Amino acid sequence: MYEVVAREEMADGEIVSNEILAPQIAKKAKPGQFVIMIANERGERVPLTMAKVDKEKGTITVIYMVVGKSTRLFSSIKVGEGFRDVVGPLGSPTHIEKKDGTVICIGGGTALAVLHPITKAYFEAGNRVITIVGARTAKHLILEDEMRAVSTEFHICTDDGSKGYHGFGTDVMEQVIAKEKIAEVVAIGPVPMMKYTSSLTKKHGIPTVVSLNPIMIDGTGMCGGCRVTIDGKTKFACVDGPEFDGHQVDFDGLIRRLQAYNLEERCSDNEYCKLND
Ligand code: FES
Repeated sequence: MYEVVAREEMADGEIVSNEILAPQIAKKAKPGQFVIMIANERGERVPLTMAKVDKEKGTITVIYMVVGKSTRLFSSIKVGEGFRDVVGPLGSPTHIEKKDGTVICIGGGTALAVLHPITKAYFEAGNRVITIVGARTAKHLILEDEMRAVSTEFHICTDDGSKGYHGFGTDVMEQVIAKEKIAEVVAIGPVPMMKYTSSLTKKHGIPTVVSLNPIMIDGTGMCGGCRVTIDGKTKFACVDGPEFDGHQVDFDGLIRRLQAYNLEERCSDNEYCKLND
């Protein structure tokens, strides 16, 4: 069992953070890598990126939105209880280096959990980092202080204008691009946001990294469930990614594959909610 040592609810319980004791994983984890977790012996395998790693305490922190049966099950696990299995670290780490120019880190929703360690690594490597974070509303904004602490310049955007700029992060990104030399953009969030960001940066010729979140099963390159099309070639996000060149990703194909089990997921969630009413 992988014990939950701390648990926090955000956005009125819609978003949950779990700090989990996993010393072997914490020892090896690098920014950009993820774990696959199951709640119990009959649980679904869920890939989640590590938002924080504390090598001294031997813990990793994952943050997820409660959207279906598996994440409801995850959120029911209390401090002192645990996850049946946590496998990792999986995937290729982010390639971090000092860039000749500014790095923009842009992201939204719970994907800020993925963006945070990457932003921190770019900042600690001596880069000028402009961070643009977005959320539906002020209460859905996570890791604000943590992201601010690792940014040279920090912007908040909300869909409803309840905090920061009223609108999309890409509007702010365009203003930043107009003002200074950008060496790289790291965009992590909902697929349409990554698609739009990549199409904008392509026009400006700015290298862009995105982190993809296809359905995964084994997480080790054997099942093919996580396949994505990159520059016309099939790649497995779990071993070749999860990060790819945003200008080469077939985002429409990824959106189709992510929707493949929508109906089954809804039925399973309804059944779980009825049973636990
Ligand atoms: S999850 Fe099976 S190949 Fe990637």
